[in-house]
Amino acid sequence: MPRLGVNIDHIATLRQVRGGREPDPVWAAALAELAGADGITIHLREDRRHIQDRDLRLLRETVRTRLNLEMSVEPAIVTLAIQARPDQVTLVPERRAELTTEGGLDVIGQHARVAEAMARLRDAGLEVSLFIDPDPKQVEASCALGAQAVELHTGRYADASHAADQARELEALVLAGQTAVAGGVALHAGHGLNYTNVGAVARIPRMAELNIGHSIVSRAVLMGLECAVRDMKACIQNATIGLAR
Ligand code: PXP
Repeated sequence: MPRLGVNIDHIATLRQVRGGREPDPVWAAALAELAGADGITIHLREDRRHIQDRDLRLLRETVRTRLNLEMSVEPAIVTLAIQARPDQVTLVPERRAELTTEGGLDVIGQHARVAEAMARLRDAGLEVSLFIDPDPKQVEASCALGAQAVELHTGRYADASHAADQARELEALVLAGQTAVAGGVALHAGHGLNYTNVGAVARIPRMAELNIGHSIVSRAVLMGLECAVRDMKACIQNATIGLAR
């Protein structure tokens, strides 16, 4: 069975909306681990739009499973990763204007930059995974660079609105997965996976890790809302017991 890495960036996004202290991604990580998460995934973006340096520092201390740090190949971020020593680094492309990571890393087109970041990370003894589109050529280039894993971008599969398109995208994931296994790297996948589309990806042979965030946090918000409203009603009720109206 593949490991589940829970991406908690969206908890940090909600905190950043108010610039305060809650909800704290460090607490979220502990709850996810107590619920059975096999790892915690965070993306320290150059613009720090959600996860902050403080989160990385504290999560490195508190995560008991595996801490997977997604990041760009920028030298300054690579330096932070080397200092923080996550259990795994996943290199992703990053554009400031994007809403989320929109495509995979172009390991072929960006070969020199990726190789330089990887060399520094590997010299520091860190495990490196490359987040790429399900394209056998990108997989082969990742293997040749000495990555320990590739994470296949499942966005096109997740976004497919017709069954035939989804089947074609799944086939691309399966083929890219075979190339990864043949190349001797671990197989991971993620992006856009939810409670209805995860099954077929989990069944891809030798799938070792799935990183999932948005659908889990979305469900948590709705599943937890009833309890949160009840708790607030109770606070108001307790505070006003005995007051004349
Ligand atoms: N894996 C990678 C490399 C990502 O960049 C993301 C999004 O931050 C995810 C997995 C999780 O995607 P989602 O939030 O759509 O589940």
